Amino acid sequence: MTTPHRHLLQIEGLHPPQIAAMLDLAESYVLLNRSGKTQRDLLRGRTLINLFFEDSTRTRTSFELAGKRLGADVINMSVSNSSVNKGETLLDTAATLNAMMCDLLVVRHGESGAPNLLAQKVDAAVINAGDGTHEHPTQALLDALTIRRRKGRLEGLKIAICGDVLHSRVARSNIHLLSAMGSSVRVVGPPTLIPAECARLGVEVFHNMVEGLTDADVVMALRVQRERMSAGLVPSAREYFRFFGLDFEKLTYAKPDAMVMHPGPMNRGVEIDSAVADDPVRSVIKEQVEMGVAVRMAVLDLLSRQGFRNV
Ligand code: ASP
Ligand code: CP
Repeated sequence: MTTPHRHLLQIEGLHPPQIAAMLDLAESYVLLNRSGKTQRDLLRGRTLINLFFEDSTRTRTSFELAGKRLGADVINMSVSNSSVNKGETLLDTAATLNAMMCDLLVVRHGESGAPNLLAQKVDAAVINAGDGTHEHPTQALLDALTIRRRKGRLEGLKIAICGDVLHSRVARSNIHLLSAMGSSVRVVGPPTLIPAECARLGVEVFHNMVEGLTDADVVMALRVQRERMSAGLVPSAREYFRFFGLDFEKLTYAKPDAMVMHPGPMNRGVEIDSAVADDPVRSVIKEQVEMGVAVRMAVLDLLSRQGFRNV
């Protein structure tokens, strides 16, 4: 199996068999990681650069681990100490890294479309690690893997994505992936945080948690992304929690075995109650993090089959 593209820039446009094949490969990396073994030959002599213009804990660390477990040389470029601060542009930064012959560029950027632009300018394979409010493809893959492992399938599941959908690249990637795989996706949140495009994407929209959670198999809470908000989109944190915070009372409307997800980082007591987030039966938040490493290993593996560099 090969990837359909040389880069991984978005989920939109991927076909179900391609997504299923990525999840199958990631599944084999879950087993490898759990066995404590590595596969360091696969990317030996290859260089992966993590280029993160926005903060990250999970994504950056798991790409680093994934690269190292497959034998790559991994460099975490610290943008805050880089020549970006001297005014160097994104494209000049990328051209500089390109001249060092890196094979893989993992990019997180505040502007939607930045990884796409870079992919047209560099020889390395580019992976989108989250761009503005556009997409976060590896997050959607790891979420899908987590759901598939728990529920045994994606098809026919009712999935409620709750909260700040407007600013969420996680929601967008998940809507594309889960809809393509036959899940029935709905979004739940205040009108100010639900984008108009949801109707075009074919998802049901609810502005009330009781209705939105009714019969759901999966409930995914999203972080309230204050850093991307203009003032006035949400009331106080307390009021937000009262109406849209995921607590056990609201969760009773979902199916009795509904699983709870959150991409992280969490604002406890804002979009999710600590008791729900830490519930060992319902919450799969830690499992999502584990799946993140396996999914990123699978993505690196697949892109390596294309030879990485466009030279
Ligand atoms: N970590 C995810 C992202 O970077 C979700 C979030 O920050 O709320 O998109
Ligand atoms: N879920 C996610 O992307 O987390 P980080 O922002 O910590 O990478």
